[in-house]
Amino acid sequence: MMNEFKETVRKVTACYGPSGREKKIAELLAELIRPYVDEITGDALGNVIGLKRGTSGKRVMLSAHMDQIGMIILDIDEKGFLRFAPVGGINPEMTVGHEVVFENGTRGVIHREEKDVKPPAKLTQMFIDIGCGSREEAEKHVSVGDICVYAPHFVDMGSRVACCALDDRICCAILAEVMKKIDSPHDIYCVFTTQEEVSFGGALAAAYSVNPDFGINLDVTGTGDTPECDPVPMKLGGGPTVKYLDDYTVVTKPVIEFMHAVAEKHGIRVQNEVLPYGGTDTYAVQPMRGGKAACCVSIATRYIHSPIETADLSDCLSAVDYVRAMAEEQELPLA
Ligand code: CO
Ligand code: ZN
Repeated sequence: MMNEFKETVRKVTACYGPSGREKKIAELLAELIRPYVDEITGDALGNVIGLKRGTSGKRVMLSAHMDQIGMIILDIDEKGFLRFAPVGGINPEMTVGHEVVFENGTRGVIHREEKDVKPPAKLTQMFIDIGCGSREEAEKHVSVGDICVYAPHFVDMGSRVACCALDDRICCAILAEVMKKIDSPHDIYCVFTTQEEVSFGGALAAAYSVNPDFGINLDVTGTGDTPECDPVPMKLGGGPTVKYLDDYTVVTKPVIEFMHAVAEKHGIRVQNEVLPYGGTDTYAVQPMRGGKAACCVSIATRYIHSPIETADLSDCLSAVDYVRAMAEEQELPLA
């Protein structure tokens, strides 16, 4: 089970798909869930919306964002070096010295100006070297407006793994696993959203069209378990989280109580999540169309938005059971 899941994580983290350019990852995820849903639809923003029908007349929307952070080309200079801007939250300190890859497979490396620049450099002081000696040569491979991502290098440490794009592909893999076994009285919408890293735009569109009675979002969250880090309660191996708060959302009391009750009923060890920074697609679902009961289950992840995001797969496998149990409950919470 662990190894099979690990292979899925490896596959989905290796697929190109920054915000607004999710076509390849959308196709891959649609194929993963296709055997387990009644239909798959899309929309103008590129969301993948799988539906497995139930009989209760109620709708539960499971969601995870499939876009990853990236870097968009601003300028190509006469020597063939590329200047770039962030697509989503690129951390400058984690960027110099890394390899990037474009949608067409072009590879490059990131370095920085040296004169008058002390590390950590700003993104505006960095450039991408794609191995070309002139603007003309570089323009055969890339254009202004192209978006690259950190090149995926999957680090297998056993139960723990590191890679770029665990945010939020690790939760896409969890949702695909949930869909294999779920047997719910409700209509289950499995939504892989676009553009979370820039605007929550995909989730806003999907939450409007699905119009769920209950939304369960999955994403990564920060941890307080590395040397001298911000003191948050989440840690690797502590189980899936019950989100109380992040920078955009306060989860309502009835929803929190529902989450704890389901965890207790099924003997699933969960940890409480209070994240004083960042946001998730939960923000797009909760206030939709007069207000929705909405929750978020997170996977504690170290070094978020770096090429070496690190998580524990045991938390993910518990999250599969947990999300499934919540979505199979006859009585859904009211916000
Ligand atoms: Co993110
Ligand atoms: Zn995320």
